[in-house]
Amino acid sequence: MPQKPTIFVTRRLPDDVTRRLTKDYEARLNELDGVLSADQLVKGAEGADAVLVTPTDKLTAEVIGRLPKSVKMIATFSVGYEHIDLNAAKQRGLPVSNTPDVLTDATADIALLLMLGAARRAYEGERAVRDASWKSWSTTYMLGVHMTGKRLGIFGMGRIGQAVAKRARAFDMQVHYYNRKRLPADQEQGAIYHERAEDLLPHCDFLSINAPGGAETYHWLNAERIARLPDKAVVVNTSRGGLVDDVALIAALKSGKLFSAGLDVFENEPNIHPGYRELPNVFLLPHLGSATVDTRNAMGFKALDNLDAHFAGRQLPDRLV
Ligand code: DGY
Repeated sequence: MPQKPTIFVTRRLPDDVTRRLTKDYEARLNELDGVLSADQLVKGAEGADAVLVTPTDKLTAEVIGRLPKSVKMIATFSVGYEHIDLNAAKQRGLPVSNTPDVLTDATADIALLLMLGAARRAYEGERAVRDASWKSWSTTYMLGVHMTGKRLGIFGMGRIGQAVAKRARAFDMQVHYYNRKRLPADQEQGAIYHERAEDLLPHCDFLSINAPGGAETYHWLNAERIARLPDKAVVVNTSRGGLVDDVALIAALKSGKLFSAGLDVFENEPNIHPGYRELPNVFLLPHLGSATVDTRNAMGFKALDNLDAHFAGRQLPDRLV
């Protein structure tokens, strides 16, 4: 029997995914699940045929340059890929795959959870029940923002943005969007396109950030853009923390320009800007967008499908470069 290829896996995988991986490959696992330093990553990949990474691994040009020659492919357990320098991978002739589609619904679900949680003050309400500071029902107690029928602006109308729009239509929301390219009518489903992101902002009672991270969108939501939002808007982010200028968002939440925000992703997570922890009007989640058993299994299987294709000499189903 030919020798099985060796895969170096940087983080712990869901059990079902590990079972399939270890059946088909020589798997080098990270049982402790710690986040690896660049040196640990490079050392761990010694003699491996491929690496299976996650968004917590920073595959900069420098790290990719140091990967052992044995490594012939990078598969990431994520749809996002701003943690991998694709140019550097391409220059080294390393194919890179990701895991699109399978996490679209789970992530869109979390966007709606954030919208409702932020608009209806779920964090404050939950805390009041737990710490017994809730005294009685009252006509004016903890009033939130009504979501049904409001305008939702979506920045980035890819798969996840469209899935957020679909859910928002069930709340009778009027959907506006900005995308680099206008969608065909059958995908737009009545959503109103804005050619410039700046023109989208005044229409956002709710703003959902769904564009990819990376240099092009870094700190896209800054003080100037926040100023263009309607007063008392609600902002949610399920994409990447880097799209938001934390200082500007925190200032707008403190001043009351924005009603609230719902955030699942953060710059430098898990070391988030400490200002968020002090604010009552942010609903915070620890990057749970794709965190369901079904979705994480599907992501893992997709990563394995790509590795299988590579080692069988077939085209990668989800090749980035
Ligand atoms: C991804 O796949 O990029 C997500 O952020 C992980 O939930």
